[in-house]
Amino acid sequence: MRETILITSALPYANGELHFGHIAGAYLPADCYARYKRLMGADVLYLCGSDEYGIAIALSAELAGRTPKQQVDLFHEINQKLFAKFGIAFDHYSRTTWPGHIPIVQEFFRELQTKGFIEERTEPHLYSEQEKRFLADRYCVGTCPKCGFTEARGDECPKCAASFEATDLKNPRSKMSGAPLTLRPSTHLYLRFDLFREKLSEWLTKKNWKENVLHLAMSYVQDLKARAITRDSEWGVPVPGMPDKVFYVWFDAPIGYVSAAQEWAEKTGDKERWKHYWLNPDAKLIHFIGKDNIPFHTLFFPAMLMGQSEPYKLPDEVPANEFLLFEGRKFSKSDHWTVDLESFFAKYSADQARYVLAANAPETGDADFGWRDFLLRCNGELLGKLGNFVHRVLTFAKTHCASRVPVQGVLEEKDRQFLQTIDTLTEAISLAYSSFHLRRAAQLVMEMAQTGNVYFDEKKPWIAAKRMRMLAETAGEALTEESVDASSLKTTIALSLFAICRLSLVASPILPASAQKIWEMLGFSTSIAQENWLAVCQNSLPIGQVLLEPTPLFRKIEPEEIEEEVSKLGSESRPT
Ligand code: MF3
Ligand code: ZN
Repeated sequence: MRETILITSALPYANGELHFGHIAGAYLPADCYARYKRLMGADVLYLCGSDEYGIAIALSAELAGRTPKQQVDLFHEINQKLFAKFGIAFDHYSRTTWPGHIPIVQEFFRELQTKGFIEERTEPHLYSEQEKRFLADRYCVGTCPKCGFTEARGDECPKCAASFEATDLKNPRSKMSGAPLTLRPSTHLYLRFDLFREKLSEWLTKKNWKENVLHLAMSYVQDLKARAITRDSEWGVPVPGMPDKVFYVWFDAPIGYVSAAQEWAEKTGDKERWKHYWLNPDAKLIHFIGKDNIPFHTLFFPAMLMGQSEPYKLPDEVPANEFLLFEGRKFSKSDHWTVDLESFFAKYSADQARYVLAANAPETGDADFGWRDFLLRCNGELLGKLGNFVHRVLTFAKTHCASRVPVQGVLEEKDRQFLQTIDTLTEAISLAYSSFHLRRAAQLVMEMAQTGNVYFDEKKPWIAAKRMRMLAETAGEALTEESVDASSLKTTIALSLFAICRLSLVASPILPASAQKIWEMLGFSTSIAQENWLAVCQNSLPIGQVLLEPTPLFRKIEPEEIEEEVSKLGSESRPT
């Protein structure tokens, strides 16, 4: 039966530019998985979108002198373009401010309310007499109740890292105006997550997830408490019946996965189609996220889904990645400790970035991206192994096989072993992709390329070619029967082309553009992304198929370029 899979990547906040760390954590792994599953013939819907509400966005907009709407419009654009540059192929990229999102969130809320999971509580909250409004935590500053630091934020202290409620601050003041704040009772709605403890733990015990994910979920589940799901703000999904309040962003954002599916369905002209993913017991739901989002995707959102009448899917897999560091430190735009993506893409290709990020994917622990490693991998692996193998075989085939796929001769042991290794590697790569081991997949793809190089080196088809040339010179036109040399040469080329074809397939989830180029050089005019993995593995290259003129897949990066990048780190001066 055809697999049906709904894949999501965490909805990025639309108040900042994405960096390599985000891409390596939640987007590239999901994209490669989606591409792999599409090749396997699965019915895949890969969704994402901008997370556009919330106090943090309202605040960052205000600090930047923009309205929240201007802020999210700006970063939605920027990030959507960046995803396209990285070749992240969402089936749909939505945004939580599209009008259809609001009624869907409100309906989710009403269901929870009807079922008795919502509770109203009136408690003291910080109020600004001057601004005539309640201030949500991010808008408050004051003295840390733990260490006495006077510039603590409403939710945590940057000095001692204590986390607390804004009402715990001493001498609270408004972040924007500096005016002192007072306490006033305010009514908020709480979601009774505590009522889901048992159902959630039971559900979690059946999961065979990554250690880090399961461990964290399990350690949180017993402490689940009711949490406020409303905020005093104007920027958010309106709470029915409470004019001055909006839903907390972590209440509305994950519902974005549902509303994005509905928006996608409307676009395709089949409004009900989203149910085929969200309400289908045979479908699979997979959330790709960074580790900071684990509790929301393994506990809070699942509880919200459990509290609905419609049989919503719960996540089947939550491949959460650790963080990617950059040259040993956290990415930071304000410290100029980041890769400027515009200048990056002016010089390097998406496939280079994708390969290096896949090879360094932060799967089992925090990982690092560094410029010198980028150079080594691009030159030594992409160019030196993969590019080199493709290029030398195609060049040889051009000279000695008239740029056509030759008929293979009788196989020797070495040939049979080579075919066997290619098949074994294909299986291993398939397993790596399907079990979320992108790093391993990248490594095995390169191993396959290197296996090709070794085979070609050992078979030395140039010796056969030389003997044939000498023989032809002495014997003239008299040779009619195919010589041993000719047959051996053709076998080497046929098998090498076979390996290149396989490489194009197995590399395509990570290196979509290069794989397509290889596919075309082999003489195919279709799109490799539309092929079927198993069919490509079963079919042999059509004998006589005309090969294209080989062109380089990757350019060589000069060490000086990389040193220049390194020297720019941490400094103010940026390329114009
Ligand atoms: N915007 C959040 C972040 O970047 C992720 C939201 S994921 C969703 O950390 F589930 F809420 F959509
Ligand atoms: Zn403190």
